[in-house]
Amino acid sequence: MPLSMIIIVGAGPSGLLLALPLARANICHPPRANSIPRHRTRASHHTTESCIEFGRAGILDDVRAEGFTPDGVSWRRLDEKKTRMEGEGRYKIVLLPLHRLDKILESRVLEQSSAEIKYGCKVVELGEEGRRGKAWVRAGKEGGGSELVEGEYVVGCDEANSTVRRRLFGEMVFPGFTWNEQIVATNVDCNFGPYDCDDSLFFVHSEHWHMVARIQTDGFCRVTYGDVGGFTYEQLKERQPGRFQAFLPGNPNAGQSAGFLLAADAAHLCNPFGGMGFTGGIADVGSLYDSLVGIHTGQADDSILDKYGGV
Ligand SMILES: Cc1cc2nc3c(=O)[nH]c(=O)nc-3n(C[C@H](O)[C@H](O)[C@H](O)COP(=O)(O)OP(=O)(O)OC[C@H]3O[C@@H](n4cnc5c(N)ncnc54)[C@H](O)[C@@H]3O)c2cc1C
Ligand SMILES: *[C@@H]1O[C@H](CO)[C@@H](O)[C@H](O)[C@H]1NC(C)=O
Repeated sequence: MPLSMIIIVGAGPSGLLLALPLARANICHPPRANSIPRHRTRASHHTTESCIEFGRAGILDDVRAEGFTPDGVSWRRLDEKKTRMEGEGRYKIVLLPLHRLDKILESRVLEQSSAEIKYGCKVVELGEEGRRGKAWVRAGKEGGGSELVEGEYVVGCDEANSTVRRRLFGEMVFPGFTWNEQIVATNVDCNFGPYDCDDSLFFVHSEHWHMVARIQTDGFCRVTYGDVGGFTYEQLKERQPGRFQAFLPGNPNAGQSAGFLLAADAAHLCNPFGGMGFTGGIADVGSLYDSLVGIHTGQADDSILDKYGGV
């Protein structure tokens, strides 16, 4: 079934990474990503799996040139026994803050004649026409008014508080399993001195599991650790100095429905520990791209999307 229009809701990294190869494959005339771009520092570590997808999208060299490749990644116990991992080679882990990755993706998508990014609008309503492969969204415009866009598929890449997912399943309902533990991610100026170290360190411990990683070449670091579930944001902030004291060296006193598909944070909230958050989203995008190309070229029928959904 040749496809002519895929609507991607959300021009964040997953939406853009899906739009780029779809536009290159000329599947969409024109596909649209409806979004108000937003730049925040979040994902920084892009794993080997992500680099493979960046390679397929033709942006890996740009990402590596713009970011930095850490000297190594290691896993240790708190008693500092060291195990190195992560191989060498083309797909080695790379670090680049998300807002800078978005810029690369955005400029590449804008080069594609069959892709269009619609800025300054937000999807507020969606629906379908009873059969698979006919779906629509209504996007509210910043200055008022709205626009209706129709396509064969609508892909929700519209973040953790996804409008598409909420319309399909309800408020904060994630079909599937959700872990109770919480992750606290902090950005700190970090002297790597006390560690005999690689750029990314993962510490294995039943209570004080954490990660310390250089995210920029200027000594800016990310320290991420786990806490038990149920604390509010304020309570987590209050606990943070005590947690740092417990595990940092020197114990410092620092402070699915018919035409609708979901990908990345819109589909699953994945903890960002170990660079896994957006990596999971990238894995979605790679599989979804293959599924849509398969439908478009007749190598698959739309039941392949049930496999993609996995529910
Ligand atoms: C502190 C922290 C550290 C992290 N570190 C890592 C890491 O090192 N490695 C890693 O792989 N992942 C990491 N992650 C996770 C990663 O940032 C996310 O998984 C990733 O950004 C998800 O991408 P996305 O495209 O699904 O959503 P987003 O990046 O949230 O983008 C969604 C887009 O959709 C738009 N949008 C929202 N609603 C609508 C609407 N109704 N209509 C139109 N547009 C809409 C938004 O404006 C936005 O542009 C981290 C996360 C955090 C919070
Ligand atoms: C999600 O978005 C809705 C509508 O935009 C908003 O009312 C709600 O407060 C948001 N939820 C969270 C957790 O941000």
